[in-house]
Amino acid sequence: MPLPSPLATLAASPIAWRVNARARRGPYGPRQASVLSHAAFARAKAEITRWPGYAPTPLLALPGLAKALGIGALWFKDEGKRFGLKSFKALGGAYAVLRQVQKVIAARTGIADAPSADIAAGKYRHYTKDVTVACATDGNHGRSVAWGAATFGCRCVITIHAGVSQGRADAIARYGAEVRRIKGNYDDSVRQAAEDAKANGWIIVSDTSWPGYMEIPKDVMQGYALMADEAMAQLGAERPTHLFLQAGVGGMAAAVAAHFWEAMGAARPRVVLCEPDKAACLFASVAEGRAATIAGDLDTVMAGLAAGETSPLAWEILEDCADAAMTVGDAAAGPAMQLLAAGVGSDPPVVAGESAVCTLGCLAGAMRDPAIAKALELDARSTVLLFGSEGDTDPALYETLVGRPADQVRAA
Ligand SMILES: Cc1ncc(COP(=O)(O)O)c(C=O)c1O
Repeated sequence: MPLPSPLATLAASPIAWRVNARARRGPYGPRQASVLSHAAFARAKAEITRWPGYAPTPLLALPGLAKALGIGALWFKDEGKRFGLKSFKALGGAYAVLRQVQKVIAARTGIADAPSADIAAGKYRHYTKDVTVACATDGNHGRSVAWGAATFGCRCVITIHAGVSQGRADAIARYGAEVRRIKGNYDDSVRQAAEDAKANGWIIVSDTSWPGYMEIPKDVMQGYALMADEAMAQLGAERPTHLFLQAGVGGMAAAVAAHFWEAMGAARPRVVLCEPDKAACLFASVAEGRAATIAGDLDTVMAGLAAGETSPLAWEILEDCADAAMTVGDAAAGPAMQLLAAGVGSDPPVVAGESAVCTLGCLAGAMRDPAIAKALELDARSTVLLFGSEGDTDPALYETLVGRPADQVRAA
């Protein structure tokens, strides 16, 4: 069968790959369990699934695309439908904001774990209104933190860097957050937000960790694990042989990989980390054997993945279970988005944003090169799960890259 033309373009996009010699296939280890565990996850799940508007996001089977790629099955978890925020990030930042607000309430009233519905209804307004949560973001995490702050009644300051589009900034401001734009890249904005928070007594709710700052990013990642949990339930008894996971700082990939690993033990899926070639800090981490930092302006169209500093917490998990790392060029984003929008064969049309499709670029590249496919054990028996981590979070950019607005894609 001739390749659909965006797939031919996609498969021709340059990729790089490397195997992680440190990956192991034993049971979920204590090192990982000290970061994320099903026990701690139970609390996040009980909380988030109670929030108004909660519904599991769809898990789509894409048999047409799987066949065109040469694999047995392809599943796509569509996070574009996550709450009203259009990305999986809604699960992490907002949950971590709630946990911080609950801690403030506990410290001031002695009431531990005040119910989120009561907090959202303003019962503790007196205590929450002077709390300010803050973070740096390339868009989606800040939107989640701002949404959490608006829902749970506290103030919010979000720092963005030069490369964040105005559309993304406006989407954050719509939740009532103060948005501050700085010069520099994502990592500069993380440092600036931390400095401002220290000077003003704000609580930083970051999606990345650093030495001495680990607890809040754990909550963020524990929230992300819900999408892996939903996917496992939606798959029934089936389990993927491969997870292709996109990475910015690595928190999402770590949360998903850990959730599958803890559930499946030594039979866990192969994990392939995927990044844009301009912001490949996990790729560097695999080479260096530590949570690596890379330099540069990180200027990639896959804005959610534009991070140069690996989260040390994420690395605690990924060092042992990321079997390989790949990078793909920005040129892959448009064709991958178009391919999903058009659907192959009878596949449904899917609205996937720039950061959602990095994995499809890497998977197509791997299937084009027999040596890579063999090394990653990818063949017609493989069943691959991808996480469509965002929908059209930047609608104008989506329309530019796909050639039609998301509404038209959905209506097709
Ligand atoms: C849409 C999207 N996908 C993936 C990621 C990567 O997540 P992480 O930075 O935890 O690796 C992000 C991060 O902002 C994102 O916004």
